[in-house]
Amino acid sequence: MANLDNDIKEVLVTKDELQKINERIGAQITKDFEGKNLLVVGILKGSLYFMADITRYIDLPLKLDFLAVSSYGSGTTSTGSVKIVKDIDIDLTGYDVLLVEDILDSGRTLSYVRKMLSARGANSISIVTLLDKPERRVVDLTPDYVGCDVPDEFVVGYGLDYDQQYRNIPYIGALKREIYE
Ligand code: IMP
Ligand code: MG
Repeated sequence: MANLDNDIKEVLVTKDELQKINERIGAQITKDFEGKNLLVVGILKGSLYFMADITRYIDLPLKLDFLAVSSYGSGTTSTGSVKIVKDIDIDLTGYDVLLVEDILDSGRTLSYVRKMLSARGANSISIVTLLDKPERRVVDLTPDYVGCDVPDEFVVGYGLDYDQQYRNIPYIGALKREIYE
């Protein structure tokens, strides 16, 4: 992993901290969704590791599905035009949907996804994001569960990419500016 670590300016969330976040949020969701009809929907590809880890701390019957959207290309800022690349397979009627996102930045992606899904007959739609950059918000969107806030830096690791790379770093780090500038 030496090569990948070299491109990281600063570690923002360690492996241990990620583990604690997953335990805390998993326990909270277990409490909040007791007796509900839980469908956990991961937004690919960034939520891959977070989804896999938090769901192991949700002690309830649940179903898993995935949604893939593209809004970024290879740049570092959201374009606002969101495209569904892979839709959910399960009919949402009657489910309490929990959308799992890696990071909330402008909020455009999740706001679009929530609007699109809310027309499909779900009981409720909630949002959990591992990371939040609250000062970057452009549209009004408040997640129900947040792992932690991060500063306005481009971050990678634990599922988050830059140009499809760095997803397999086991912690969250700020990417050196010279990599993307
Ligand atoms: P938004 O639509 O501006 O909220 O952007 C959200 C999406 O942009 C996330 O799902 C990420 O895929 C991507 N994104 C935003 N900030 C970062 C970052 O710092 N690192 C990696 N991906 C990011
Ligand atoms: Mg994403």
